[in-house]
Amino acid sequence: MIELKNVEKSFPLPAGRQWVLRNVNLEVAEGDFLSVMGPSGSGKSSLLSVLGLLDSDWQGEYRFAGQAVHAMKERERKSFARDHVGFVFQHYHLLDDLTVAENLDLPLSYRDVPSSERRSRVADILDRFSIVAKKDLYPRQLSGGQQQMVAVARAVIGRPRLLLCDEPTGALHSSQGEMIMDLLAELNRAGTTIVQVTHNPDYAARGNRRFELFDGWLKTAA
Ligand SMILES: Nc1ncnc2c1ncn2[C@@H]1O[C@H](COP(=O)(O)OP(=O)(O)OP(=O)(O)O)[C@@H](O)[C@H]1O
Ligand SMILES: [Mg+2]
Repeated sequence: MIELKNVEKSFPLPAGRQWVLRNVNLEVAEGDFLSVMGPSGSGKSSLLSVLGLLDSDWQGEYRFAGQAVHAMKERERKSFARDHVGFVFQHYHLLDDLTVAENLDLPLSYRDVPSSERRSRVADILDRFSIVAKKDLYPRQLSGGQQQMVAVARAVIGRPRLLLCDEPTGALHSSQGEMIMDLLAELNRAGTTIVQVTHNPDYAARGNRRFELFDGWLKTAA
């Protein structure tokens, strides 16, 4: 489904070039669940930004379902990402001025989904994530774990083929972390391809393939 060929990213700095991704080659099959580990600053979030089509400032080739992402213009890339990718950010990135239900509706509002269908999908996902009681609350009225649940719900409400999760359990207690991981496993069983960044070896082991990043070099992990 996904193929990266010699993907490289760097920033020019006065002291020389700051490398972020180096010669990254990766193939991801439909239904894979990848775990990426690595020290802080090793390029994990940068790799997810490339995979999620949030960043286009890199060199190399990226094919997604046969489409050449590296050749896409900005508009095309953004609409492709909206249609195919869900993103759970390292920090939840919920909109503070919108309620839980409004946050969940947002990705659908960008995608020409009819309003009756939007309402029913929001209701379904609130139910599935056991957050119906929170639907009219604002993010600041939720615990960290609940905010992360909403962030995952928002990432999957558009039924993306690819779900990217940047330390989705980083700020959570272990029981909340388990809940998020169970949810990811369930989405994966239902066919969603997942790439997660995690610092937790037990959570990394939930993936079917494990990788490590060091200074921008991606290696298969044992
Ligand atoms: N605008 C920039 N200019 C220069 N270097 C940058 C810039 N943005 C990011 N970097 C560098 O890119 C490298 C990778 O950052 P990235 O956020 O991908 O790391 P990470 O592995 O996700 O770390 P963490 O575990 O702390 O989230 C870091 O060394 C960072 O300093
Ligand atoms: Mg990061």
